[in-house]
Amino acid sequence: MPTTPSSLTGPCLGDCLSRRHFLAVTGATTATVVLGDVFPGRVWGQDPQTPAELTTLSRTPIGRLSELQADVPVMFDYGGENAINTCMLVKLGEKAGGGIGEDQDVVAFSSRCTHMGGDIEGIYNAQYKVAGPCPEHLTTFDLTRHGMVVAGHATQALPQILLEFDGDDIVAVGIVGLLYGYANNPTLGNAPDSQ
Ligand code: FES
Repeated sequence: MPTTPSSLTGPCLGDCLSRRHFLAVTGATTATVVLGDVFPGRVWGQDPQTPAELTTLSRTPIGRLSELQADVPVMFDYGGENAINTCMLVKLGEKAGGGIGEDQDVVAFSSRCTHMGGDIEGIYNAQYKVAGPCPEHLTTFDLTRHGMVVAGHATQALPQILLEFDGDDIVAVGIVGLLYGYANNPTLGNAPDSQ
């Protein structure tokens, strides 16, 4: 169980953390504690009691670190030949959950909104490090916290792409979370089931 910061236990006199901010901070902390031992340096999940769904796929180079510019998203397709899914690779410029690189700030996510599949391809706010708002119903996802929802209708985080380095190459090796529109993620050689 996460401990409650002492600054949050007294009466709120105007400049307290908002409830949403509080949940974001404590939720991310709890997920880090629970999952950190399973995926050292790479942790995911909004509900600390539920293991993150991890799908491993063939290693796919998606970009080069030397060519990435901070806060400039790069789009790529991933998910296997039977389930092409457009994704967003971005160097956030600040440490992120699941981030790789010297600053642990290189992350990638599906760009299909988890609410109803809205297209958030390339919609990125560099100031707040979020994807969105989704053009359909305005859901916004925090890319520093495993794509968790920070506003809008969606209840599931954006599926995060598991990344590794191979020299200068950035390589996608799996997906954490369920791609929108499928009952299960693709696995090697198998097509996913449509919902
Ligand atoms: S489809 Fe994105 S918020 Fe509804």
